[in-house]
Amino acid sequence: MTTTSPESIPRSEALSAAQAAARSTLTWLDPEKTRKKKVIAVGGLKGGVGKSTMSVYLALVYAVAYGLKVLLVDADPLSQTAYDWHRIAKKKGDPLPFDIETWPHARVGQRVMEDTDGYDVVVIDCGGESSDIFGSAVAVCDHVLFVTSPRKAEMRRIKGSLDGALSAARDAGRLHEISANVVFTRVKNARASHNEAARGKVKDAGYDLLAAEIPDLVDYEDAMETCPKELGHYRALVETLEMAA
Ligand SMILES: Nc1ncnc2c1ncn2[C@@H]1O[C@H](COP(=O)(O)OP(=O)(O)OP(=O)(O)O)[C@@H](O)[C@H]1O
Ligand SMILES: [Mg+2]
Repeated sequence: MTTTSPESIPRSEALSAAQAAARSTLTWLDPEKTRKKKVIAVGGLKGGVGKSTMSVYLALVYAVAYGLKVLLVDADPLSQTAYDWHRIAKKKGDPLPFDIETWPHARVGQRVMEDTDGYDVVVIDCGGESSDIFGSAVAVCDHVLFVTSPRKAEMRRIKGSLDGALSAARDAGRLHEISANVVFTRVKNARASHNEAARGKVKDAGYDLLAAEIPDLVDYEDAMETCPKELGHYRALVETLEMAA
């Protein structure tokens, strides 16, 4: 005999209704699925600012909250955090609800254009090592997210890195089609004056700072190598991203 928990049916129906409602807010998504996919390039500086965590959660939000078919591409040539996260979670019986590929080379943009048919959303974790890889992803993307914390040492290095990647989009003649945001993560004490100063610096440098930020929380640290049960601040971040696009 099959036993079905009484809550499980309404819950899954409620989830699919909520996903359909969320999908209807996505102006770029063609209900007939003839539209091209949305490509998001996540990049930033090397050294643990939270790029891979951001990439995994973005993929998770599009898969869970919107019910979309999502591919996460790990294009970091040095540390394959996203790929390992996906692999280990699956091995533990707690799989992430999206697919993963590792394409850690400067042809990543081309692979995304050629080999990702059938996906609604492709998120590329570009790592922080290679401007060629970041540039290759940016040249084919719809949205660039440059991830940083508001700490002074990181803020100082944004400009060269993001300008370099955007010049690849300019060379490909696509700069006007791309929206680019700096996004703060691992923000400690959101109201601290140094965060305000950092927000000002991003704007002074001529970049758009995404209005949504991710705080520094142990829950996000613990999420690694599991399928997170809560979307946390990343749900609002995706909504803000969709409004900015
Ligand atoms: N919002 C957050 N709050 C607390 N810890 C976080 C948060 N985001 C990421 N972390 C933690 O920070 C560390 C680095 O995160 P992550 O691997 O995502 O960074 P990265 O920028 O991809 O690093 P790398 O340059 O090595 O690829 C990890 O231990 C992760 O769990
Ligand atoms: Mg990483």
